[in-house]
Amino acid sequence: MTKNLFIALEGIDGSGKSTQVRLLAEKLRDAGYKVHATFEPTNGMIGSLLRNILKGSVKADERTIAGLFLADRLDHILNEEYGLLKMLGEGYTVISDRYYFSSYAYHGTHMDMDWVIACNKMCADLLRPDVTIFIDVPPEVSMQRISAGRQSTELYETLDNLTNVRAKYLEAFDKLKDQEKIITIEGNQSIEAIAGDIWDQLSSSFK
Ligand code: ADP
Ligand code: TYD
Repeated sequence: MTKNLFIALEGIDGSGKSTQVRLLAEKLRDAGYKVHATFEPTNGMIGSLLRNILKGSVKADERTIAGLFLADRLDHILNEEYGLLKMLGEGYTVISDRYYFSSYAYHGTHMDMDWVIACNKMCADLLRPDVTIFIDVPPEVSMQRISAGRQSTELYETLDNLTNVRAKYLEAFDKLKDQEKIITIEGNQSIEAIAGDIWDQLSSSFK
């Protein structure tokens, strides 16, 4: 790869993003890259509040939640200690488990997606991913994985909602296809097969 990339991984809950971020980071490190793997919601102050909202211990309107995710993202980009711009400036390849397409899909389910995109324009202007990798999994499969993996579910983890969120992801990718580079990976296959597909696609896109 010619320069240090910013790679965002996207998908509905349980699609296997965290697993693939870990594997991709390992492979890139083995290939000699400096890698910073990160995620949204962050574990900073706003991200922690969001996790309480997702668990259901704090209640908030969907519009407020969308605003908090925006604030969390701006901190993720701009923070002088651990921000994405700083890490990229230091030559790290950055992989983020979720970025602004999560907002378009999850909040676009509850409000006008164009509003969510407009609110996030500052993030897109500050830092557009070199590539967004969408791990596409049927909501039935991701719900099975979520319930097999843990006892409790979070705010957005219902079959109905994840079905809508998947459709909103596809709508957002279509809407922004001229500005964004999106790679879709078949997610209903083994962990190793998905990791192989991601690697092949990245290697052929960024020689
Ligand atoms: P996400 O970060 O998208 O929520 P995770 O990577 O945490 O997804 O995976 C959710 C659950 O599904 C975990 O228990 C993980 O081990 C499992 N899992 C991940 N990828 C696959 C796969 N391709 N096939 C089967 N199970 C998977
Ligand atoms: P995450 O911890 O990635 O959950 P999972 O590993 O189950 O996919 O994300 C937590 C939740 O936050 C997830 O339901 C998606 C939601 N979310 C938004 O609603 N808006 C956003 O902008 C982001 C980044 C996440």
